Amino acid sequence: MDNIIKELYDDFIGKVQSVTSFDNLEKLRIEYLGKKGKVSQLMRDLHKLSVEGKKNAGQLINKLKSAIQENLSVCAEHLVATEYDRCIADVPIYDESLIVEKPLGSYHPITLIQRTVEEIFRSMGFTIEDYPEIVDDFNCFQALNIPEFHPARDMQDTYYLSTGQLLKTHTSAVQNHIMRKYGSPLRAVFSSRCFRNESTDASHENTFFQMEGIMIDKGISISNLIYFMKTMLSEVFKCNVLVRLRPGFFPFVEPGFELDINCLICGGKGCPSCKGSGWLELCPCGMIHPKVLEYGEIDPEENSGFAFGLGLTRLSMMKYGIKDIRTFNSCDLKAMSQFTNL
Ligand code: DAH
Repeated sequence: MDNIIKELYDDFIGKVQSVTSFDNLEKLRIEYLGKKGKVSQLMRDLHKLSVEGKKNAGQLINKLKSAIQENLSVCAEHLVATEYDRCIADVPIYDESLIVEKPLGSYHPITLIQRTVEEIFRSMGFTIEDYPEIVDDFNCFQALNIPEFHPARDMQDTYYLSTGQLLKTHTSAVQNHIMRKYGSPLRAVFSSRCFRNESTDASHENTFFQMEGIMIDKGISISNLIYFMKTMLSEVFKCNVLVRLRPGFFPFVEPGFELDINCLICGGKGCPSCKGSGWLELCPCGMIHPKVLEYGEIDPEENSGFAFGLGLTRLSMMKYGIKDIRTFNSCDLKAMSQFTNL
């Protein structure tokens, strides 16, 4: 069985290297990972082995599956990048002397808040990561302990491409990639635009920004999570921010929390902005689920970690007092240019 698995993998690698289109990539995925694909066939053949043989081969097949999945994702990223380069090459180059005549622009408030928060995390030893907005089902859901048909998917309907890939519904979709990239210990933040099939109103948008952070090491606990969040928020708001944790459920953390900060408008006394409670909900977070660490090839027996998903759009609304989320995508230069000029 070991040899068959190895041959199958070598054969796959040969094929994936020559893929030049999304169609071919999808065919290859079905050939290997589809219900009637080669990997499923291996699984079906397991019954021919002894108990011990089954155990070993089962582990090898799981590894094979992840390796194939990873290679398919890398290939998809490569195809997206090639397509992007091709589009860029088609963009005409304007006469630069005309550009100088135009007034200088300004940074978008979300760019400003993202840079501020990144700088704070950088100073605390976190790396700043970037990743495409197009992801696959494995990274966006399965590797986060959200299998097919899990109800948590209902809240994250999004835009699907004909390749089966999708627009990131949350920055958590990058956790698996970062875990595999660095292993333990790691500290990283990664921001991105996220997309969901939402009806828009003053506080909901189909396109918004999040910043995800993860820290993994031996002996990381909830106190580390609280410390980093409190330090970061106190820096952003330039005052001593109080935080509290309430239980919250997310399949990829255990335990999971909703992190609230004291309302900075009324100082915690209660006002219309905080609906009289004195607290504002800001950032879901929690201790990374052992299964998610396993998917990221990090041993949960030895390591633990925290993760948070900070709403950059929401943070920006709080920091700059922006009341309607639709302002951000409105292209209203008058509204957007008041925060800084270049
Ligand atoms: N990804 C979640 C969402 O957008 C938010 C989230 C919850 C991120 C808990 C986390 C976390 O890292 O630990 O709905």
